[in-house]
Amino acid sequence: MRYLTIALPKGRLADLSIELFESVGLDCSELKKSSRKLVAADEKSKTKYILVKPADVPTYVEYGAADMGVVGKDTLMEEGRNLYEVLNLGFAACKMVVAGPAELKDRLDGLNNKRVATKYPRIAREYFEHKRRESIEVIKLSGSVELAPLVGLAEVIVDLVETGRTLKENGLTVFDTIADISARLVVNRVSMKMESERINGIIDGIRKKLGAAKT
Ligand code: PRP
Repeated sequence: MRYLTIALPKGRLADLSIELFESVGLDCSELKKSSRKLVAADEKSKTKYILVKPADVPTYVEYGAADMGVVGKDTLMEEGRNLYEVLNLGFAACKMVVAGPAELKDRLDGLNNKRVATKYPRIAREYFEHKRRESIEVIKLSGSVELAPLVGLAEVIVDLVETGRTLKENGLTVFDTIADISARLVVNRVSMKMESERINGIIDGIRKKLGAAKT
């Protein structure tokens, strides 16, 4: 039997993802032994786990280097990869929003060529250019996006909001919600056919767990 490879995102989603797979009977103990090891295998179930940067999970899954993976919906929307999104896992829930200084809210529509700071250029363009039919200048940042309107780098931001604390503490308000975000289970298109039994077994197990957790 070949190894089934599962790509897990490093960082804040890692522990919850490991918990999820363990809850359906997979053994992730090798993965938990070291925080530096990038590949770990469970010989008994012939499952291999790879730890990758969250933004790279869709790439590994699309190319088949991983059969399945866990990834945030924000990354999926931004990457636009060719894969199956099979389950909403529910955890890591937050929102993708447009935000800015409160005083700009009523003037936003009349503002041409707005500068939009974001870690998500594709999502920002999709929202402003396709949905609102407004031209924008996207300013790509790598983090602390909330700073941009405070120092005149951009008028508005497109970013994730979880508790709303970062926005509040920097005097910014939400103008609009673009999407509800949470962790998703994704599967490679070929693997879905070739390894359908094992993959569907995992999907069904997780689906049952999620259903049980809700009731
Ligand atoms: C994320 C997001 C916001 C913040 C929102 O940033 O980009 O900045 O969390 O959380 P809150 O609504 O609970 O305050 P992250 O912590 O990943 O850091 P980064 O901005 O440097 O990417």
